[in-house]
Amino acid sequence: MQIDTEHLHHWMRAIRNSNDPMRTMDAFWRGQILSKEWLIDNLDELVHASVSVDIHGGWVGTLASMLFQSNVPCHFIRSVDIDPECEEIACNMNQIELEQGKFRAITADMCDIRSDADVVINTSCEHITQDQYDMWLSGMPINSIIVLQSNNYKIPEHVRIATTLEEFKQQSHLKLLFAGELDLPLYKRWMLIGTPDV
Ligand SMILES: C[S@@+](CC[C@H](N)C(=O)[O-])C[C@H]1O[C@@H](n2cnc3c(N)ncnc32)[C@H](O)[C@@H]1O
Repeated sequence: MQIDTEHLHHWMRAIRNSNDPMRTMDAFWRGQILSKEWLIDNLDELVHASVSVDIHGGWVGTLASMLFQSNVPCHFIRSVDIDPECEEIACNMNQIELEQGKFRAITADMCDIRSDADVVINTSCEHITQDQYDMWLSGMPINSIIVLQSNNYKIPEHVRIATTLEEFKQQSHLKLLFAGELDLPLYKRWMLIGTPDV
């Protein structure tokens, strides 16, 4: 996908102005960007009308910015993250759409959020326990498209990895529209797209 120079300027400004630029740049490793591009390519196949999007565990707002620059027709994106450092960085990353009233970032625990968005994305499934995930899913609208990513990368902050795509399906309780895996140098990324299986 193409990132235009005006958005690139805001990405660089967001990194430069953040409290810990090196930490902020963790969101821009090749694997992180490839995983988001993979998500966008597959979501694009399933979205045929303008949608509102909630991104839970939205981190510094990279996925939101990439979605705005993609062919997925998004009229509004809200990015939710529990880390208070993320809100300002995500707003800087998405400055253009923030000024247009198309973007908002909030600091909150995704498990406390009930969503009414058309598409709800959670690419931080490995960061929440099964109990937290089950509570989170119960707050999602039954007709929304849910997009999930997780991985098999065993590090202390990953409290619930999935060792296989099958295991991720079992953790996730979705009626599936898509399931796939992406081979990255250090780990495999899993992705599921579907609706809540209630
Ligand atoms: C390392 S980052 C993103 C990892 C993910 N694989 C991705 O590329 O999007 C994980 C993010 O999830 C956020 N997070 C973890 N638990 C959360 C929760 N309960 N509610 C909201 N955000 C959460 C963290 O603050 C962090 O910004």
